Amino acid sequence: MANSLTGKVALVTGGSCGIGAAIAKRLARDGAAVAITYASARQKAEEVVGAIEAGGGRAIALRADSADPDAVKSAIAETAQTLGRLDVLVNNAGSAVVKPFDEFSLAYFDRMVAVNVRGVFIATQEAARHMGEGGRVIMIGSVNADRMPFVGGSLYAMTKAAVAGLTRGLARDLGPRGITVNNVQPGPTDTDMNPAGGPFASVLKGLTALDRYGQGDEIAGLVAYLAGPEAGFVTGVSLTIDGGFSA
Ligand SMILES: NC(=O)c1ccc[n+]([C@@H]2O[C@H](COP(=O)([O-])OP(=O)(O)OC[C@H]3O[C@@H](n4cnc5c(N)ncnc54)[C@H](OP(=O)(O)O)[C@@H]3O)[C@@H](O)[C@H]2O)c1
Repeated sequence: MANSLTGKVALVTGGSCGIGAAIAKRLARDGAAVAITYASARQKAEEVVGAIEAGGGRAIALRADSADPDAVKSAIAETAQTLGRLDVLVNNAGSAVVKPFDEFSLAYFDRMVAVNVRGVFIATQEAARHMGEGGRVIMIGSVNADRMPFVGGSLYAMTKAAVAGLTRGLARDLGPRGITVNNVQPGPTDTDMNPAGGPFASVLKGLTALDRYGQGDEIAGLVAYLAGPEAGFVTGVSLTIDGGFSA
């Protein structure tokens, strides 16, 4: 029996590790050919490609800093050219800088907006040119768009709230073309960005109802649902997956 994404092509930004790598592997397991982008971790990206190929899937890794509009556009063009089409875009790449408010320079502000918001907009605009009926755009936002329980995360929360707003608007823009746009908002998830043994871990874990961090595979499961045929009537929403962090 064919898997739910057989014949589809997906691009996952920031797929060299963490949540993005878990999503890339899951979409490949569901049958999609997958392109991942990375900013600097070439070897890790190649390892993700190797793992997908070892499982019988097809994957490519492309260097593209989400802050660089031309690099993002080239990655999308190369994906469509090399893998033949583009059906699913997962805007996962993100930057999270937590700092005392007074120490945020304009450079930090611009960089976080460039990666977390402008890069998402550009990738979606370019990817949508290749998509038809049944296309899927999935953002990886954050529960911090709705709840920021510690100091220093103002810019991060702002960028992820922007992603939630962008999702609603894009759902309207792309709905008439049969393309859905949704936003997955993870809570604390064990990755390099936010390790379950890191400095914020005990506080964050304690704020969840389940008293634990999430795993990338759990986030990937929700993304796979949104990418698949059963989610055809879901669009314009932010779906939170946070172990009860916001309950
Ligand atoms: N972990 C959490 O608790 C959590 C919670 C809510 C939301 N999120 C969101 O989930 C997404 C993934 O986070 P993560 O925890 O998996 O982070 P991670 O482990 O640090 O992985 C980030 C990935 O994004 C890539 N990346 C970073 N900056 C990039 C850029 N400018 N251009 C292209 N790729 C870039 C990295 O590649 P390189 O190593 O090559 O740079 C890496 O593949 C982010 O949007 C984050 O905000 C995470």
